[in-house]
Amino acid sequence: MIHGCFQGKDIVSLDQFSVDDLSILFNVTGKMKQIAVNNEPSRILEGLLVALLFFEPSSRTFSSFAAAVKRLGGQTLEMQNPEAVSSVTKGETFEDTIRVIEAYSNAIILRHRISGAAKQAARAAEDVPVINAGDGNNEHPTQTLLDLYTLYERFGRLDNITGMMAGDALNSRTIHSLLRGLSLFGNNTMYILSPNQLSLSRDEVVSLQDRGLRLIEIHNEREIPHDCDFWYWTRIQKERFSSAEEYQQAQHEIVIATPELLKTYAKKDMILMDPLPRVESVDPAVDADERAVYLRSQIRNGLYTRMALLALVLGRI
Ligand code: CP
Repeated sequence: MIHGCFQGKDIVSLDQFSVDDLSILFNVTGKMKQIAVNNEPSRILEGLLVALLFFEPSSRTFSSFAAAVKRLGGQTLEMQNPEAVSSVTKGETFEDTIRVIEAYSNAIILRHRISGAAKQAARAAEDVPVINAGDGNNEHPTQTLLDLYTLYERFGRLDNITGMMAGDALNSRTIHSLLRGLSLFGNNTMYILSPNQLSLSRDEVVSLQDRGLRLIEIHNEREIPHDCDFWYWTRIQKERFSSAEEYQQAQHEIVIATPELLKTYAKKDMILMDPLPRVESVDPAVDADERAVYLRSQIRNGLYTRMALLALVLGRI
């Protein structure tokens, strides 16, 4: 748990955050936004080096973390695809790789295709914090920080919200972490629109309902309610399927966000979010709709929230 003190903490799950922790982070995020928007030179991370260790591809998380460090005057040690370019190819263990990288850096940002890898890395790293940049189909806590900030910025609250999450609820780590985040706040209702075979696991549904989140699973577009404050669209996670046939079947059954769908079911003042990458999830024809924030505030908030998290975890603010 963070308990108001971020310094030196590993960040592996949204479950470590309380409402007060999010409030601290959002406060700092506002300051970081000013630095980034105004291109203010910053020395907040001067003298520090942050390792980006990405065992899985990434556009947003990798580049926003790299940009966050550099915007704050720090430096990065960047390794993408260690399984091809590092001594992992020679048989070096994951733990040894983490121990080596921690010797050279002040924090490790880790993305991995295996669920639980971030926790494993946090156990291996004795001296520096590890931040989970997405582990398999488990969690993606820093994505949730930017998603929650985007909602907070738009609505001024994170309680009394009705939303719909669509796509691959079973495998989407961004959905898993965002549901955990929203379960911290009162009177939230989430509709989950997914093909049957990509529903949330029963354990996860029970756990989230126990925390007070109202969860309603739906399976076709006619069940979409008209009162959602936000939609959160996700792609089908092709890389998590064991066969091409299963993936194609799921892809065949999903609902895509189109201008027609918005016209029929969406409120005028709702927002449409997508953690991206966009792969047959949101029709590009929706981009011009001002409710579509995925390439606007949502993407930019990834930079500001990650700047804030780094400054807090590295004890520089
Ligand atoms: N949203 C997200 O995690 O995107 P990347 O995989 O490109 O980092």
